[in-house]
Amino acid sequence: MKIISVVGARPNFMKISPFIKAILAHNHSGNKSKIEHLLVHTGQHYDIGMSQAFFKALDIPDPDINLEVGSGSHAEQVGNTMIAFEKVLRQEKPDWVVVVGDVNATLACSVTAKKEGIRVCHIEAGLRSGDMTMPEEINRLVTDRLADLLLTPDRLSNENLRKEGVAENKIVFVGNIMIDTMEANRGQAAQLNVRTICVENLMGAAKLKSDDLKNRNYALMTMHRPSNVDFPAILRALTHFLCEEVAKEMPLIWPIHPRSQKRLQEFGLWNEVNKTRNLILLNPIGYLEMLRLNMDARLLLTDSGGLQEECTVLGTPCLTLRWNTERPVTLREHGGASVLVGNDVEKIRTEYKNILANKRKPMRPELWDGHTAERCLRAIMDYKEKI
Ligand code: UD1
Repeated sequence: MKIISVVGARPNFMKISPFIKAILAHNHSGNKSKIEHLLVHTGQHYDIGMSQAFFKALDIPDPDINLEVGSGSHAEQVGNTMIAFEKVLRQEKPDWVVVVGDVNATLACSVTAKKEGIRVCHIEAGLRSGDMTMPEEINRLVTDRLADLLLTPDRLSNENLRKEGVAENKIVFVGNIMIDTMEANRGQAAQLNVRTICVENLMGAAKLKSDDLKNRNYALMTMHRPSNVDFPAILRALTHFLCEEVAKEMPLIWPIHPRSQKRLQEFGLWNEVNKTRNLILLNPIGYLEMLRLNMDARLLLTDSGGLQEECTVLGTPCLTLRWNTERPVTLREHGGASVLVGNDVEKIRTEYKNILANKRKPMRPELWDGHTAERCLRAIMDYKEKI
């Protein structure tokens, strides 16, 4: 069997790493049916900090093929990926294309594969925010409509797919593959020192004072979604809250996504952010470093999907800077650590105060057990046997 798996952007890397390891383990197991595997990187993320650093930390082999599509509008990214990926498929003729998550690479490569008559497997299928203004929601819907095999992270996702009329035999509940990566790397991350991570990744000429981060009493944040960073009024209000309220109370560590940095500069907010005492601005940091910071953070403010999931298993109280989530299993009402606060400062402030009163409460949803990748590979192999 020949499989091409695809990555494009940062959140894909932690999902593909365990899948590749499962293939290697299968090939070394003495099983006669070997799997030929090629890794394609579309090149959507290309900075060292956004891409190569993750390959290194997660021990992902170098991509066999890099499509080098780079940045651009959504149509440019999707279109350029499709043109380049079609050539790869015609040359390599795989039995399966495996896509993960919900980025532009996921959509572009699913469409291209189906048009070439190649089977598509989607890992992390069935997540739905119901918010069609999110580019990722469009990517999820199209990918799941086309996929032959839909591997879901939780039972709510199975329900979503059933409601959309997906045939039962295409859906397999496998658990959350990103938690495989977290479990495999937790021990190593725990060895890192929070202060050293900050010192080594500080942005620009900033310096840490000797007593900063003395006690493990810091907040951690990430923010990159267009809905939060692309509108001046929203970004200004959020920035003021962070600088004038959170950073006044405790050190706030903020590894900045390139999009957010650009917007802060464009909207004239960069100076305020830079000069705020206790706001520790970092360049994008690696996987292990982020995991380490998350382990001890008093709370996390984020609009990332993956971090909501990691907070759930680690128990870090999480303010999710979104009005909806495709990952409801991470919410407090389902026993998780996250609460939706959107980008309205009043609401964020109220929940911020509530959440500070909460203790860590780790929770492990069903099958988030570190063995999802093996189940994914088994599902692909079983599918082949069925037809
Ligand atoms: C993408 C994903 C999003 C994911 C996020 C994680 C889609 C639709 N979105 O959004 O789901 O949560 O990745 O990071 O696929 N840039 C760089 N260097 C890079 C990559 C990007 O400077 O290596 C800058 C460019 O100016 C670019 C901007 O960041 O225009 C945004 O990058 P892009 O890949 O378009 O989307 P993300 O916001 O990163």
